[in-house]
Amino acid sequence: MPASPLHLTGIELLWTAVEDRDEYPFAIAAISHLTTLSLASQVTFFVGENGSGKSTLIEAIAGAAGLSPEGGSRNLNFATRRSDSSLQEHLLLTWHSRPKSWFFLRAESFYNVANAYESLSEPITGYHERSHGEAFLSAIKGHFRGGGLYLLDEPEAALSLVGQLQLLAVLHQLQADHSQFLIATHSPILMAFPGAGIMEMSDSGIRPINYRESEQYLLTRSFLEDPDVFMRHLFVGDPNPRGPSERRP
Ligand SMILES: Nc1ncnc2c1ncn2[C@@H]1O[C@H](COP(=O)(O)OP(=O)(O)OP(=O)(O)O)[C@@H](O)[C@H]1O
Ligand SMILES: [Mg+2]
Repeated sequence: MPASPLHLTGIELLWTAVEDRDEYPFAIAAISHLTTLSLASQVTFFVGENGSGKSTLIEAIAGAAGLSPEGGSRNLNFATRRSDSSLQEHLLLTWHSRPKSWFFLRAESFYNVANAYESLSEPITGYHERSHGEAFLSAIKGHFRGGGLYLLDEPEAALSLVGQLQLLAVLHQLQADHSQFLIATHSPILMAFPGAGIMEMSDSGIRPINYRESEQYLLTRSFLEDPDVFMRHLFVGDPNPRGPSERRP
């Protein structure tokens, strides 16, 4: 059970109005299996291989919630890097309560967001005098509030390990203050957040998994236990870079 009620409790993909299921983004394997997704934790991670559809899904959720697909808050709209996917038009979001504050932050384009704010003379200013990670963390600390809904795409891309630990502390504090997070990530550190829901996106769909059974946890643990074993396999051209203990049939 979440510590406090969620704002966003469910996501449904309404397939009846989808015209072309064979095209992006509906053809992405994990998305093609999506019907309903229940959210049960205040912090939900979306994990999966590169290209499994995490950014596509999180952007579409942000879009369906009325947030700019490039990141930023509801009142910030500007040209986007990625073409808007039509997925958001077919998502039905189920709300328990309206969040007091919203934000969608994509670490890789964070500077664009900071730029847009500067040009709008909004309170996010001075970020270009700081490093990427410093600016990213201070945006989170300065603009994320209790009772909010926050969507993050690979926040670890901007952060050192210590920065990721700081982010865990911020998540903990904001969770206690009734905020909810949806986070696309590859980070086994962020995924360790206690009580978080972890949704794995793969060719067979989107399913909840346990932290200690996740590839991110298992592979990182085996790698750190003995990096040399991995190197030996990688450097002889072994096409399976997972190491001997992680081989799959
Ligand atoms: N605008 C687009 N048009 C067509 N295909 C796209 C578009 N954007 C992404 N794709 C494809 O959709 C799939 C999912 O991409 P997406 O960026 O959602 O993956 P991801 O899980 O976020 O990956 P990563 O871990 O690398 O960030 C990929 O195969 C990608 O090539
Ligand atoms: Mg992505």
